[in-house]
Amino acid sequence: MKRLFFLLLLPLIQCCAVSEPTDGLKDAYKDCFKIGVAVNNRNVQDPDQIKVVLREFNSITAENAMKPQPTEPRKGEFNWEDADRIADFCRQNGIRMRGHTLMWHNQIGTWMYQDENGNLLSKEEFYANMKHHIEAIVNRYKDVVYCWDVVNEAVADSPLAPGAPELRDSPMYRIAGEEFIYKAFEYAHEADPEALLFYNDYNDAEPEKSQRIFNLVKRMKDAGVPVDGIGMQAHYNVYGPSMKEVDDAINLYSTVVKHIHLTELDIRVNEDMGGGLRFNQGKATVADWEKTLQQDQYVQLFKVLRKHKDVIDCVTFWNVCDKDSWLGVRNYPLLFDENYKPKQAYLAVKGFDPKMDNVVIAEDFKPSELNQPGQEYPMVNSQGYARFKVIAPKATSVIVSLGLGGSGGTVLHKAEDGSWMGTTDGPMDEGFHYYHLTVDGGVLNDPGTNNYYGSTRWESGIEIPAHDADFYAMKNVPHGKVQQILFWSNSTNQVRVAWVYTPADYDKTKKKYPVLYLQHGWGENEYAWWNQGHANLIMDNLIAEGKIQPFMVVMTYGMTNDVRPGGAGLRSFNYKDFETVLCDELVPFVDANFRTIAKKESRAMAGLSMGGMETHSITLARPEMFGWYGLLSGGTYNPEEVQGTGVKGIFIGCGSKEGPDQIRNAAKKLQEAGYNAKGYVSEGTAHEFLTWRRCLLEMAPMLFVK
Ligand code: XIL
Repeated sequence: MKRLFFLLLLPLIQCCAVSEPTDGLKDAYKDCFKIGVAVNNRNVQDPDQIKVVLREFNSITAENAMKPQPTEPRKGEFNWEDADRIADFCRQNGIRMRGHTLMWHNQIGTWMYQDENGNLLSKEEFYANMKHHIEAIVNRYKDVVYCWDVVNEAVADSPLAPGAPELRDSPMYRIAGEEFIYKAFEYAHEADPEALLFYNDYNDAEPEKSQRIFNLVKRMKDAGVPVDGIGMQAHYNVYGPSMKEVDDAINLYSTVVKHIHLTELDIRVNEDMGGGLRFNQGKATVADWEKTLQQDQYVQLFKVLRKHKDVIDCVTFWNVCDKDSWLGVRNYPLLFDENYKPKQAYLAVKGFDPKMDNVVIAEDFKPSELNQPGQEYPMVNSQGYARFKVIAPKATSVIVSLGLGGSGGTVLHKAEDGSWMGTTDGPMDEGFHYYHLTVDGGVLNDPGTNNYYGSTRWESGIEIPAHDADFYAMKNVPHGKVQQILFWSNSTNQVRVAWVYTPADYDKTKKKYPVLYLQHGWGENEYAWWNQGHANLIMDNLIAEGKIQPFMVVMTYGMTNDVRPGGAGLRSFNYKDFETVLCDELVPFVDANFRTIAKKESRAMAGLSMGGMETHSITLARPEMFGWYGLLSGGTYNPEEVQGTGVKGIFIGCGSKEGPDQIRNAAKKLQEAGYNAKGYVSEGTAHEFLTWRRCLLEMAPMLFVK
């Protein structure tokens, strides 16, 4: 139902695009670390792109312009144009730069390490080349560059053959062995003793490679080499690395250096990682579930990074938006889409709550009360967190549609035993929630729980125990009946179903009863109100406590499931067909077959969400039928429209998370106009069933009271 609520609002809020931010990631993270970005030429010349860069970031890396080949393509021939442009942009805007990179086996002129015949140079010649290159560039930018990636990607990838060297077999390595790395750091330090000097590499959280990176830097430290930090490139993807791997790597690195930077962060939506890439250029077609995986990976990563803010002092994204990305837009890797618009994931990364970072989740999880017999999961704890476990050994992704504000859910992770487990990122609202699983893009129910009809299908349900759950608890009180009735409908030419609640004393007396016709919402059906709504238990308890005079409740299908959600579908919904079924077929059938008080004053109609819209339309169209009206998260009445209807009482209610002022204002206006009206707001709930259970509790006592 949450979904419908948003869909109902859709025409009003013009789709769910993230609006233009007024401040940036750098502001959200000012107490943690700098937020950097790698820029190309266009990023620092186009006014719109400049706007994004200056709003979001407070550290800049030149994506290519300061690399060895672009700055010195041939020995002694320097080309500073692009690097100067970016450096000047930073100088003008007071932004300090990460320098990238002094020594790398890629994007380097071959003159650095070999002669015209392709023979490797002597160690002395190579060192002389390296020294003059490093001196030239470090000196030129020392006023604006505060740290350098001195050596890039010198450690060998996994898997490493037994006995193979831990370092990459590059020309530099072949000439000088590990020593060339030491020398590069020494030359950089001589040129700018103030600059922080980094060793930078990818697959930085992969356990074996991170150990080799650590080993290298440890040897450098032991040898007195001026290395200050480790750069984790962080070219990750939505499936990995695991946050434990990232956490372990940072812990390991922080035992040998005081500074860790994430230098080239992006999270692509496929399984590629690190060095060996398949470039996916072209138009992006990224499914919602992949976006959820990406958002979760970003959110979890930043949570780990915040935990390590003492040692992490800069996190740099590799490019501004997906269009700029070295990976191409189809990899969808950044927080800004191909049009420089922030993604939902941007909001999630930016909108973190520092208090939630330190929350200790109480390990008192118990099976949800809606679980199928003998099923342990899903579980719920005393704080309202939900924990899920799904057996799907061959799956590559499992997402639960609950949790994580606005993003699509809780991403489960594979445990050692092949099961998938995960806990919601925060406490859920109290009460009942529909949910489903998305396994590798396919939508399924959770075999652990019972199913409840919502979103036009039988979905999984979970119940977060509410503090006031007593009013719908199944207690040792006299219970009424919920019975199925089948009635012939001429207008639809079929037998139709309704469920009728008769109070406990119905069978013992000859009394006649008032009747409430109670409607479900858009994606639900005639089961919803007594199944997940517990309407019968709410009635039983109210009657047992003497809080209401007994009345009947009739629940039938409101013919809403076929309506296309969204603006146009909803606006053109024709409630007339249902009005005919209800007023001309069902009401007469109920009056003929039950001991009802068959008159307007003893007949009420109420509905939740779209059932409220139906109620609104039908009560006003047929004022002779109903004397009491109720809208539950389903709009309001105004005094003008109910004028002349002879209405006896009006109830309007909603959850506190649904814009409750409308309800309060409308109730006040009705009261001021002299109507018997009640407005009610359910605290701490949204467009979900706990709101409507409480609404029934609040509405029932006012109905049929003379
Ligand atoms: C990439 C640039 O983004 C591309 O434009 C260029 O064609 C290749 O290099 N690791 C690094 C970066 O250290 O310098 C690389 O940048 C990406 C991988």
